[in-house]
Amino acid sequence: MATIDTAESEYDPFEDFDRSVGIGVDDDPYPGFARMRASTPMFEPDPTARPRLFHAYSLDAVKRVFSDNATFSSEDAYTVGPVLGRTILEMDEPEHRSHRALVQQAFSRRVMEQWETDIVPPIVDGYIDRFADRGSAELMHELTFPFPVDVVARLIGLPRADVPQFHRWAVELISFRFDQERGLAASASLWDYLAGILAERRAAPADDFLSVLAQVEHDGERLTDDEIISFLRLLLPAGAETTYRGSSNTLFGLLTHPDQLDAVRADPALYPQAIEEALRWEAPLQFVRRRATVDTEVVGVPVPAGSIIACYMGSANHDERYWNEPDEFDIFRAPRPHVAFATGPHMCLGMHLARMETRVALARLFARLPNLRLDDSVAPSPKMSGDLMRSPSSLPVRFG
Ligand code: HEM
Repeated sequence: MATIDTAESEYDPFEDFDRSVGIGVDDDPYPGFARMRASTPMFEPDPTARPRLFHAYSLDAVKRVFSDNATFSSEDAYTVGPVLGRTILEMDEPEHRSHRALVQQAFSRRVMEQWETDIVPPIVDGYIDRFADRGSAELMHELTFPFPVDVVARLIGLPRADVPQFHRWAVELISFRFDQERGLAASASLWDYLAGILAERRAAPADDFLSVLAQVEHDGERLTDDEIISFLRLLLPAGAETTYRGSSNTLFGLLTHPDQLDAVRADPALYPQAIEEALRWEAPLQFVRRRATVDTEVVGVPVPAGSIIACYMGSANHDERYWNEPDEFDIFRAPRPHVAFATGPHMCLGMHLARMETRVALARLFARLPNLRLDDSVAPSPKMSGDLMRSPSSLPVRFG
């Protein structure tokens, strides 16, 4: 049995965690994005910088870069190397394709359906239980922040007693942009801990995601222990932090638009379109990078080999050539694909899980908390912010 150090710590990471991704920094980047799309959709902020750096702002530019993984490489595109090691995010073809074919077997439709009924609702209900009798809550601290980490813990099949420590490591790992030393230490501890759990599953497979990863096979290939542990560790920033922000953004959109909130409350069939609109409106992850492998062009702008391209999904999702009044939150707009999950070979592997988790959170909140509404007696009122990642500052609510 793998053991962990459960010593209590005074560290409260919530604020550091948000500060590390620029929450409270850039409240409204969208007017600036609109100006850039109109003038220079491939913008070079400092033409003397080497390697050259371009910002892709329009939907056409962002999709062009995402769709061609040979011309636009993911290698070295992430700055999370020190804490995460090399992951699927940084692989190019053909290595990426075969690795993805292996890990995606753990996200099968059958497994997802089981999570939707057996795993996610009890986790969400467990958090709502803690404030359901109070008549008020702050949904980010009390629900959307913790529950996706619990989901990852349950997927991996961690013993319940280990979950608090897993939470702490998760947050410290994700906060490495703010506190490198703490992030590296958490990353190393997580590695050792997960290696122990993996050894147990190799010896005695259970009915969980980790046991599936330990056994999957594609073209005679299997995942090594290092690849599995690295993938599990990636699920914290890639799966838990993004879902925290994505579900918070959906709730913020609805709570600040009471007519749409009423519509969704009256008709749960509207949950999926509310979730898609929130992802488009406020992409949880605002940009990711690629590197040009050859001399090329993007929307007519020459891009020399070696250049870095920051693809702004947050801007591309507001491209007025594709969406009317793009800065408005409108769950009734005509659906069309956004790029909050990227597109092309690296398109988010966990998008169906993220949507399902958010759907379950909305369903349980609206079913259990009648007349759920924003608590406008709390000051300052919540607002969206962030440059790398977007989410509200808080979600104070009243109900009953
Ligand atoms: C609202 C929530 C989420 C958002 C906005 C999101 C966004 C993204 C984006 C933009 C990428 C592409 C990165 C790139 O091209 O460089 C990505 C990849 C990925 N995501 Fe998500 N994600 C979310 C939830 C999840 C969840 C719940 C999981 C799993 C538990 C997950 C696992 C992954 C993995 C493994 C990749 C790498 C795929 C590859 O490189 O082939 N994500 N995600």
